[in-house]
Amino acid sequence: MHKLIICGGNDKYGNSEGIQRLDLFRGELYTIVGNTGSGKSRLMKDIEQLADHDTVTQRRVFIDGKQFTWEERQEQSLHFVAHLGQNMRFMLDTTVEEFLNLHAHCRAKEVDTNEIIFQANQITPEAIMPNQSLNLLSGGQTRALMIADIALICDSPIVLIDEIENAGIDKEKAFALLLSKEKLVMIVTHDPHTALMAKQRIVMEAGAIKQVIQRSEKEAAIFEQLSKEYRKQKRLQNAIRNGEGVI
Ligand SMILES: Nc1ncnc2c1ncn2[C@@H]1O[C@H](COP(=O)(O)OP(=O)(O)OP(=O)(O)O)[C@@H](O)[C@H]1O
Ligand SMILES: [Mg+2]
Repeated sequence: MHKLIICGGNDKYGNSEGIQRLDLFRGELYTIVGNTGSGKSRLMKDIEQLADHDTVTQRRVFIDGKQFTWEERQEQSLHFVAHLGQNMRFMLDTTVEEFLNLHAHCRAKEVDTNEIIFQANQITPEAIMPNQSLNLLSGGQTRALMIADIALICDSPIVLIDEIENAGIDKEKAFALLLSKEKLVMIVTHDPHTALMAKQRIVMEAGAIKQVIQRSEKEAAIFEQLSKEYRKQKRLQNAIRNGEGVI
């Protein structure tokens, strides 16, 4: 896969979407912003389902301009899109290591489970152990493991993430890991630091894509400033969590 194409549909009032066609590329990060109820999650779902005039928005979503039949879409959407929702949990009664081996086996891949767990542990401060039970992982550990799994085992080129702020993980490292694997990453966010991380942000209003804003140089400078503060915040958070003084 090279690019994802979104063809505009209608907003909640039946007016045409502000953008008639949007091309999104692998290896790029895009953020989706907009008020509560503006249609951010719906846009994610349209992409996940490879919508074809058959959702409430009437959008069409194509991979490299290809048309799929309904049956193909059911299969292909799983192949192309990995979606990380806010409240996702593992439901398997097995260990972290066994799960990773099983998943790699299903995808006919040779993987080093220690490397995946190592990467996950770069993203979460609470270390994950290979022999830990999957369903006993914390929320932050679960998300970190899912991100490492998507980066290193899944072939899905598109990764959709709904609000990562409160997940207790290092979002900068998480996105860097996904982008290093040439994924097309889309993130819904209400947080200015995350929103400005992308060179392009998609603004939603009344159920439609209102516009796509290119990050300006001024915004890039603000982003650098927010990044410094984010890292400082992380350092303090870790020190406090570990029972250390912060002065
Ligand atoms: N173009 C559209 N036409 C009709 N209904 C729409 C359209 N876009 C979104 N909706 C509906 O509007 C509701 C709110 O949309 P959605 O859940 O995507 O908002 P959101 O931006 O994710 O909000 P939040 O920030 O609260 O999560 C949903 O029921 C969704 O199906
Ligand atoms: Mg939402």
